[in-house]
Amino acid sequence: MRKIRENVYSVGPVDSGVRIFHGYLTPNGSSYNSYLIIDDEITLIDGAKATFTDEHIKNIEEIVPLDKINHIIVNHIEPDHSGSLPEIIKRAKNAKVYSTMQGFKGLKNYYHIDIENAVSVKGNDEINTGKYTFKFIPAPMVHWPDSMLTYLVQEKILFSNDALGQHIGTDKMYDDELGKEFIMSRTGDYYANIVLPFGMQVGKLLDSARDLDLELVCPSHGVILRSYIKEVLEGYDKWKDNTVSEEAIVIYDTMWNSTKEMAERIAKEFEDKGIPASLLDLKETHYSTAMAQLLEKKYIAIGCSTLNKNILPATAAFLAYMRGLAPKGRVGLAFGSYGWSGESISQIEDVMKELDWETLPQQKRLYMS
Ligand code: FEO
Repeated sequence: MRKIRENVYSVGPVDSGVRIFHGYLTPNGSSYNSYLIIDDEITLIDGAKATFTDEHIKNIEEIVPLDKINHIIVNHIEPDHSGSLPEIIKRAKNAKVYSTMQGFKGLKNYYHIDIENAVSVKGNDEINTGKYTFKFIPAPMVHWPDSMLTYLVQEKILFSNDALGQHIGTDKMYDDELGKEFIMSRTGDYYANIVLPFGMQVGKLLDSARDLDLELVCPSHGVILRSYIKEVLEGYDKWKDNTVSEEAIVIYDTMWNSTKEMAERIAKEFEDKGIPASLLDLKETHYSTAMAQLLEKKYIAIGCSTLNKNILPATAAFLAYMRGLAPKGRVGLAFGSYGWSGESISQIEDVMKELDWETLPQQKRLYMS
């Protein structure tokens, strides 16, 4: 339990040990943030992952017993934010529960619970708890259809749930305790791996955020923003449009180093044309890190040897993952070496075309004839 303001507490658990978050590498761990606001009536915002239910309840009860909670706001029902809620809702007998209509459908489907005091909310709905007003801001698809944000008017705090967060598990509470460079790097990594497919919806969210007077942004993962709110909003604004720089990344996997040699030569050719290029070996680097590294790059070369008329597994995983996240507006180059058939190159290029990328001529190298 950590105090943010006189009447606002952070009560969510920190999961510093988590290293894979549904396929996404989280080298700094994460947290499942939840907030408790004390007023004439008491409000809890968001739950936590089910395995942390006891810790979540213990944190809350260091401040108030569960049966004193009057309002439970569920901004998003993905299990990392709702797992502890069935037990909390059961024990917080006097609480009304607020979520979107989709949120309540999801809670029922996940947990098979009927919530007696369910209040379905939509944009501009608000609740008053004494001196405080909470406003609900729908944010569908940032990150799921049910997602919403909650704004605490008098404290100028936006509880942004998945939006504007970072996967960081730390005993630090605020962005400036970790430095701007680290926060922006982890925010970009999070955007690339979670938010990237939802640019249009992010645009609507940013329009709503611009109308708010913001002193704190309290996301559901990572640290609270107080010093770098502007920078994070600017980052989202840039990433939502797939704004890229004249830089290249050459991503590859290789069997016997022939494709690696091609990758190095392609990177040098970009450099010779004045385009900075970096190399990324998928055998050494996780595909979710590759996504973060390509977030702002215009030229994306992807290479892989052909194995049994197919691509290597690490490249297959990366392509499947990238296809879902769907970065737009890139220039792709498919390359690879092969012994006799060379199917890998076209399989890579097919994904680039599916994403509507412009493509440069394929580069193939036959090493046996
Ligand atoms: Fe952090 Fe969409 O859950």
